[in-house]
Amino acid sequence: MVLTAEALASGVDQEWAERVRDLASRNDAIILAHNYQVPAIQDVAHYVGDSLELSKISAGLDESVIVFCGVHFMAETAKILAPAKTVLIPDQLAGCSLAASMTAEEARAWKAEHPGAALVVYVNTSAEVKAEADYCVTSANAVKVIESIPADREILFGPDMFLGSAVERLSGRKMHIWMGECHVHAGIEPTNIRRTLDANPNAELLVHPECGCSSQCMYLASTGDLPADRTFIVGTGGMVRRMKESEADTFVVATETGMLHRLRKENPEAELVPANEAAVCGYMKMITPPKLLRTLEVLDRGEDLSPYEVDVAEPIRSKALVPIERMIALA
Ligand code: 13P
Ligand code: SF4
Repeated sequence: MVLTAEALASGVDQEWAERVRDLASRNDAIILAHNYQVPAIQDVAHYVGDSLELSKISAGLDESVIVFCGVHFMAETAKILAPAKTVLIPDQLAGCSLAASMTAEEARAWKAEHPGAALVVYVNTSAEVKAEADYCVTSANAVKVIESIPADREILFGPDMFLGSAVERLSGRKMHIWMGECHVHAGIEPTNIRRTLDANPNAELLVHPECGCSSQCMYLASTGDLPADRTFIVGTGGMVRRMKESEADTFVVATETGMLHRLRKENPEAELVPANEAAVCGYMKMITPPKLLRTLEVLDRGEDLSPYEVDVAEPIRSKALVPIERMIALA
């Protein structure tokens, strides 16, 4: 565990990192971090990944404590998959605008309007919403899950409208799509893509399907207005994999800017250009280095963990587990 120059420049030092790792190992804890976390947290974590990868890792860990550096629904998913473990999040208020755009009550009302339909929800939802769903998906496997549903079954897809229309286009399957969005990705618009590509004409384009521009990018790639062989609509884990395979030396990255740290670390030679520098998720950034350290110190001192502990009560947990397990089986 060595802090990158970017992490050191943010004021975090090696001593902090060593203390965090030491407290984690003394307390049988493992630190998981999403790809959008600040550099210091990505560098100190035992695992960094996309939402699907982190769910899969949570399900198979030996350690008794998971310290989840990500947003609340991700820590909840870890708890649903690993109920015997203590799951801690350094700030319980780290929410998600997309997850907040569909409540369990709204999910129930939608299902009542379409009896017999399959409710497919994005992993960016609360445990209560997942408990209403038939299938859960991430950006990494949404198309695969949709293709596994019998062709004659009506599909309700939510809450992300941009991911929904991208999946509709990729799978060729008509769906009812919920009109929710992530405020960060909705702000990455076609004009951002045009401008960055005009400035970097040989770049490969990596677009998260939650982006406000994703379905338009797909359409423009199909008409030849964007280079089809250099346009990839992929989740955060897909971006890491695509860069490993690619021969390109410049990439326009259309997602939350925390992703650039992970991509730079794995591809130090490549030039990375954010499609929109303002695409910063304030919720992800609520997990800070001092809060991570404080969480581990509270754990180490055997103090009250309730300010950090994430729990999912029964029967919500068992109900939510069904669509999550389907998602993992189709990963
Ligand atoms: P990934 O599933 O691609 O990691 O995305 C999660 C997320 O919150 C995107 O905003
Ligand atoms: Fe939620 Fe958007 Fe932040 Fe991802 S980037 S956690 S979808 S608000």
